[in-house]
Amino acid sequence: MAKRTLTGTTLDTIVSLAKRRGFVFQSSEIYGGLSSVWDYGPVGAELKRNVKDAWWKSMVRERDDVVGIEASILMHPDVWVASGHLDNFTDPLVECQVCNKRFRQDQLEGEACPNCGGAFGEPRQFNLMFKTFMGPVEDDAATVYLRPETAQAMFVNFENVQTTSRKKIPFGIAQIGKSFRNEITPGNFTFRTREFEQMEMEFFCEPGTDDEWHEYWMNFSMEWFKKYGIRGDKLLLRVHEADELPHYSKASADIEYKFPWGWGELETISNRTDFDLKAHSAKSGKDLSYFDDQKKERYVPFVVEPAMGADRSALAFLLDAYDEEGEGKEMRVVLRFHPDIAPFQVAVLPLSKKDTLNSTAQRVHDLLRPHFNTQYDDTQSIGRRYRRQDEIGTPLCVTVDFDTLDDDAVTIRNRDTMEQVRVPIENLEAAIRDQLNEMRADSQG
Ligand code: GAP
Repeated sequence: MAKRTLTGTTLDTIVSLAKRRGFVFQSSEIYGGLSSVWDYGPVGAELKRNVKDAWWKSMVRERDDVVGIEASILMHPDVWVASGHLDNFTDPLVECQVCNKRFRQDQLEGEACPNCGGAFGEPRQFNLMFKTFMGPVEDDAATVYLRPETAQAMFVNFENVQTTSRKKIPFGIAQIGKSFRNEITPGNFTFRTREFEQMEMEFFCEPGTDDEWHEYWMNFSMEWFKKYGIRGDKLLLRVHEADELPHYSKASADIEYKFPWGWGELETISNRTDFDLKAHSAKSGKDLSYFDDQKKERYVPFVVEPAMGADRSALAFLLDAYDEEGEGKEMRVVLRFHPDIAPFQVAVLPLSKKDTLNSTAQRVHDLLRPHFNTQYDDTQSIGRRYRRQDEIGTPLCVTVDFDTLDDDAVTIRNRDTMEQVRVPIENLEAAIRDQLNEMRADSQG
């Protein structure tokens, strides 16, 4: 395939492409927007769904030792007491005494306010959890929190899942879902937001084997990004210093991507030890230990956690796929997504809008849509439609022309090479599969 020729692009280019092509819109835009809150449009929703599906497939469906759950966002408030989030899930907040702007103290360079140069007041610890009330009475007894991580549901359901799935240690519980953090300084498009989606897996293992499993999951995660097309030289694994470890972790490492503004975290892989299970046992009074019937031993499992952001990963896939070819009026923007990440795999394009072609093209579309994620487009010139599909990264376009009415064959056009091959409709599904497989192999990062 034509490998990506651009080594990087600006965030502005991606934000404007995202809006123009229906990847991401600002939330509530007709009311002036809500700061740092974003909506996925028809193309972006497919992209993000593909990212989550690829993760779920690798993490749950293709493995015997991981099962999935889908838990509620609202949990018993004691969960957050036991987990330590009520006391520890804070960022240091400072407020400028002149312009009253607020900042995260640990992200500031220098002592003065970056907005007006004023002095800051005393820092205070700001808890990032969103609060709300359950039921009609708004008092302390009715306070509940929007979860700041999906992980706790895997700990409190440990026994339910282990007994019903009959899994033996080592095994993991995975979940994809929304989390909420009242970030002091959200920003960089969908990178840091207050509402976002996480893809997390808690891997329960025997104490003493945890370091080995930590190594295993760091490796697995790095390979996952590369498998789906992120370039290896845009990824790095950064081990946390002792003073930046989350309160529950014995060791953590981040997988970072080289964003236009610098390296930024996509995933954290942590060794959470037996911190969470022990804390929930103590608070709830429920024994969350495990009896190893081969070793005839009871222990509280250790937990290794790969925790990935779905929105950040989708943004990294979008940035990494972006490429430009040619110059001036001939310049072609193309997103070279891995075929499993691309919002659509195949576009069916009748050469003209004439009824005779449209009905044949619809027949071709109906043949393909049970097998691939497809789009049908019969507006504007064929050249413009190819460009539009390139800009949303559709690997293959199938063109139905007037010859099709005679030879029952269509043309497949490849996004990366722009080569066109004529294929009988009866062989079309197999030919598309072959080309997508080649593109899969070529897209490895
Ligand atoms: N359970 C562990 C945990 O939540 P984390 O490093 O705080 O660990 C995991 O979060 C991932 O969730 C991050 O690597 C990032 O991809 C994503 N994430 C965290 N905060 C986010 C935010 N404010 N906006 C978007 N994604 C976020």
